[in-house]
Amino acid sequence: MTEKSKAPEKLGAWKSLRAHQKEVSKKSLRELFAKSRNRADRFSAEACGIRLDYSRHLATRKTVRLLTRLAREAGVGDLRDRMFAGEHINTTEDRAVLHVALRAGRRDRFRDGDQDCTADVHEVLDRMERFVKGVHSGEIRGYGSRLSFTDVVNIGIGGSDLGIEMALKALHHHRVRSIRVHTVSNVDGTQLADVLEQVNPRATLFVICSKTFTTQETLTNARAARTWLAETVGEEAVARNFAAVSTNHEAMDDFGIHPDYRFGFWDWVGGRYSIWSAVGLSMALGLGIDNFRAFLAGGRAMDRHFREAPADQNLPMLLALLSVWYNDFLGASSQAVLPYDARLSRFPAFLQQLHMESNGKSVRKDGRALRVPSGTILWGEAGNNAQHSFYQLLHQGTRFVPVDFIAPDEGSSRFKEQHSLGLINMQAQAQALAFGQTAAEVRAELESRGLSKKEIRALAIHKVHRGNRPSSLIRFRRLDPETLGKLVALYEHKVFTEGAIWGIDSFDQWGVELGKKLARELQSAV
Ligand code: F6P
Repeated sequence: MTEKSKAPEKLGAWKSLRAHQKEVSKKSLRELFAKSRNRADRFSAEACGIRLDYSRHLATRKTVRLLTRLAREAGVGDLRDRMFAGEHINTTEDRAVLHVALRAGRRDRFRDGDQDCTADVHEVLDRMERFVKGVHSGEIRGYGSRLSFTDVVNIGIGGSDLGIEMALKALHHHRVRSIRVHTVSNVDGTQLADVLEQVNPRATLFVICSKTFTTQETLTNARAARTWLAETVGEEAVARNFAAVSTNHEAMDDFGIHPDYRFGFWDWVGGRYSIWSAVGLSMALGLGIDNFRAFLAGGRAMDRHFREAPADQNLPMLLALLSVWYNDFLGASSQAVLPYDARLSRFPAFLQQLHMESNGKSVRKDGRALRVPSGTILWGEAGNNAQHSFYQLLHQGTRFVPVDFIAPDEGSSRFKEQHSLGLINMQAQAQALAFGQTAAEVRAELESRGLSKKEIRALAIHKVHRGNRPSSLIRFRRLDPETLGKLVALYEHKVFTEGAIWGIDSFDQWGVELGKKLARELQSAV
């Protein structure tokens, strides 16, 4: 099914941005800061306890005005309202896009045609709560086990793995200490083998997590785990030591999943947007249901902000507009996300799927070719580690990579004072990227160190940092479940806004299907 979509390059604001880009390219961040003493205040926004400082961007007030006009002309607000209203904005699959309903309050109204999505979501959530509490209290145990479950093994891949792994790591300091959660995703067998070496089969709960329940990697690992359990404990254990999360009830039946141990969701939830659904079961088992609910509340708060705030104060929209600015006007090759809290070290990997599977498209919703660069290439790593790895390229490479620095004010471990050192490093990096070091400054430094003129001539050029490399600072008080929910929803809506501007369907993923089909064909041929 196709839907009208405007070619972005035909929009008036796009054309104005093209012209404006030439003005901005002549300016430096040093100059922009020198001209406006309170630039840091003027180029910042705050909502839901998240502060965005975007003053170190190659942007003026006019840039922001033109970008917000672009959002208006592209109909971002209209598409957002249609998403929340349950319209089938995923046109190629004719589906509603209602992951926002997964974090709805009981009184919020979300419908997909006749389906009362809010009621269905809460019914599953309440069942998850009973299950999680039962596991934690020991009321629900493994087959023939006197022990409570000590280990949970989540078997899933992509959207059925990345969010769970990211969140469990991010919120490690909020974990339920009596239970360890492991994640198994890769098909090559190594992760599964390593986990099985560490666990007691009777006290281990396997959670098969797969929207479709047809994914080759997940089913291969799930069958191998079932064989291991049957061999070590007995076939009867499958009904007590396996739970499953899927939209495919028939396949769960075939696998032998006990009806009380299965948790459903719906085709209006995309895999990469599913962490809020029963896909979060292993997360809730590892962190407790209250923390899972707090995570949902965080997402809900960000939804409200996204729906209500004007574009120039709207955090997801600002991030998206800056991203389009760099992607389509200033020639950025990619974008890096660099958290200064190692607990967020899997956040870039999670965001990678969110961005690149959603917006890695070259055909617009109306079936025409997209003629501008789309799909931010996103990568990253915990900041301090990355400083000693790839920051050289960010500072002096020929590529242009805007950065999102992310950090809580308070550290997530008991070594609070070490966290301040991390924050100091983040500030220093943002400053070095933005303002660099001129040839004159380098020469003065080398002279003060007593180098000869000849030595200075040879070395200075290599030490120059051109600066003008943009970054956002995304700050919040502490990394708790609610804040993590806000951060995930922030980026979800950022991706939504980018996709709306490019006029693409951000919620399908046809590009991954061909490879899957060919692998199936090759598998059946051997
Ligand atoms: O191949 C990509 C993909 O379809 C993702 O969109 C999805 O998150 C992942 O595979 C796993 O799919 P499933 O949850 O159906 O196993």
